[in-house]
Amino acid sequence: MTDTSYQTYEKDARWTAVDHYATRHLDQSNSFSAALQYAKDVPAREGLPNIEVSQMQGKFLAAQCQLINAKHILEVGTLGAYSTIWLASTAPDVKVTTIEINPKHKEVAERVIKNAGLEHQIEVLLGAGVDALPKLRAEVEAGTRPKFDFTFIDADKPNNLAYFNEAVLMSRSRACVIVDNVVRKGALADAEAAKFDDKVRGSRDVVEAVGRDTRVLQSTLLQTVGEKNYDGFLVVVIK
Ligand code: DHB
Ligand code: MG
Repeated sequence: MTDTSYQTYEKDARWTAVDHYATRHLDQSNSFSAALQYAKDVPAREGLPNIEVSQMQGKFLAAQCQLINAKHILEVGTLGAYSTIWLASTAPDVKVTTIEINPKHKEVAERVIKNAGLEHQIEVLLGAGVDALPKLRAEVEAGTRPKFDFTFIDADKPNNLAYFNEAVLMSRSRACVIVDNVVRKGALADAEAAKFDDKVRGSRDVVEAVGRDTRVLQSTLLQTVGEKNYDGFLVVVIK
């Protein structure tokens, strides 16, 4: 029988306590601290869904960008630009291109970005990933836009694989692609759940395709717990 005990997993007080502890000790305040707080508060006040990455996850993404000295960053799924601010804050010469389907989210994101003083580093494109990404790719292929060093995929989950494939086609050698929310409280490992949950299906599609993809140099799946519950990142390095 299929084990569906993941469905009962809920936020654990220890995970939240450790996130708070880590924040107290590791939140070296930087010039973006106030802007990051604004990027949490304003979208929440505007009624955007509370599904942005946690602070420690934002710092993880920023650390990956700094490790590979990423200058051209792609994000699919802007929401209120919280992760976008983390990505753009990694160096003053970083450029982030981020795609958002919802005009209201884009408007809030642009306010948040302006408040951070990052409007010259961040371009928010309005549209569905499946429309915007091929247009971007045409520019990359025409040489009018540089290849990306780092991509964060954090949008509608059923399209994870389509977004991954587009990202690979726009990636430089040794670029990193990270996909958010693939673990889904453990449902990832449940083939039955994939039959009725298209977000689980989309997560399994991308994980399984990455495993077969000869363009991939390295891949791992990092399970995470914390104030955002039990989830995880798919982390991929492109050949
Ligand atoms: C969902 C999407 C997210 O990007 C996230 O971080 C958490 C949950 C969702 O659609 O369920
Ligand atoms: Mg997410």
